[in-house]
Amino acid sequence: MKIARFSRIGFIMASAGSAVGLGNIWKFPYITGEYGGGAFVLIYLLTVLLIGFSIMIAEMLIGYLGRRDTVTSFEELAPKHKNLWKFAGFQGLSGLFIMIFYSVVIGWIFNYIVTSLVYLPSTVKEAEVTFTTMLHTEFWTQLFYHTLSFIIITYVLHKGLKGGIEKMNLFLMPALMIILASMFAYALTLDGFSKAVHFMFSPDWSKINSEAFVTAVGHAFFTLSLGMGAIMTYAASLEKGANIVKSAFWVVFLDTIIAIVAGLILFTFLYQYGSSPAKGPGLVFISLPAVFYEMGIIGNIFAVLFFVALAFAGLTSSVSLVEPMVQYFIDRFGWSRLRATISMGLFFWLFGVLAILSNIDGAKEYLTWGSRNFFDWIDYLTAAVMLPIGGFLMAVFVGFVMEKSKVEAVMRPQLKWAFEPWYFSLRYITPVAMFIVMLSLMGVL
Ligand code: PHE
Repeated sequence: MKIARFSRIGFIMASAGSAVGLGNIWKFPYITGEYGGGAFVLIYLLTVLLIGFSIMIAEMLIGYLGRRDTVTSFEELAPKHKNLWKFAGFQGLSGLFIMIFYSVVIGWIFNYIVTSLVYLPSTVKEAEVTFTTMLHTEFWTQLFYHTLSFIIITYVLHKGLKGGIEKMNLFLMPALMIILASMFAYALTLDGFSKAVHFMFSPDWSKINSEAFVTAVGHAFFTLSLGMGAIMTYAASLEKGANIVKSAFWVVFLDTIIAIVAGLILFTFLYQYGSSPAKGPGLVFISLPAVFYEMGIIGNIFAVLFFVALAFAGLTSSVSLVEPMVQYFIDRFGWSRLRATISMGLFFWLFGVLAILSNIDGAKEYLTWGSRNFFDWIDYLTAAVMLPIGGFLMAVFVGFVMEKSKVEAVMRPQLKWAFEPWYFSLRYITPVAMFIVMLSLMGVL
């Protein structure tokens, strides 16, 4: 079978597009706010460097050597117990699960792009009412925008790897960077900027507990798109002889720098206009619109630009969340790309409708189990259970299961002296860290 290949820059942009998502712009700033800034950022950066980077290389390696969908790649690369190891490939399913709420959140962002053109709430209280009214009562609006997100994502995916995914990323990623760079340039001129820098880079260890630690590690995984086959699937289309280490470096670098820049922008704005950084998940949808209002007319422009950037980040991640299972059905069952994308799209669209309903008054009562509704359960199950399991399996697979000679043949020339430290980290540091994270996120520890 002939497989379309990414160009070198196309692969880096598509992988960076996968990594840079709602996690960077929406989630990273608010969890940094919740855990008090500097110390949390430091732990996150160390995790990205020590664990994230080495798993990124491992995941790219499996894709690069396997050359097929995630299930087949594991199966072919396992020297024995192929039938067991192929189940590790089903980590691709996590992406479809994540899409159930990811697409709904992208829908909210679309809605905010449109409304910010004409309206911004004048106080945080008003902003909160706007957001919760949408969340709890506006079913049709959410359904409309969720459907729009479904249409865009399936359209791009059906155009294929080069004509869809690569093209989209080569356009949206630079656009996203330009928007963020111009907002950052403006933030630099404000007094609030130095406060934001202080908040993000001077560690206050008193806020750090085991939960903060685990959140930082879990987030490093989520934000780098590790543990669910997205990067692996993209890497299956790398050209022979491509430099995995360099690509992994660029993806990690871009993802980290964009999270930091987004954090600095948001905190500068919040400090400048008298809000505090600890605002929780509503930071972007509640505190920020009220801050944009304070800015006057430039605020309307920034609000629209900001939500456009957020939508771009979300869409480029979405295609990577769905592609692994699309590839799976094409490779294993001979489905056409169109059939595979529409089927996967309908899956997350349908369950997405349930996710919307699970926040709507009158319906949410039927879609809540224990302390969480359907939406929150999916978020929790993917981040706390599925991604760490995926990461754990990959580290063990490359570290212990694949023949060392095979791994070494590709990686030693690229990593040189760093080969042994990388291999050690995969075998011992990463699996232990992932195991601890998983247990504590599941509430066992
Ligand atoms: N990395 C994306 C983000 O930060 C989310 C994602 C996770 C995308 C896993 C693909 C795979 O929002």
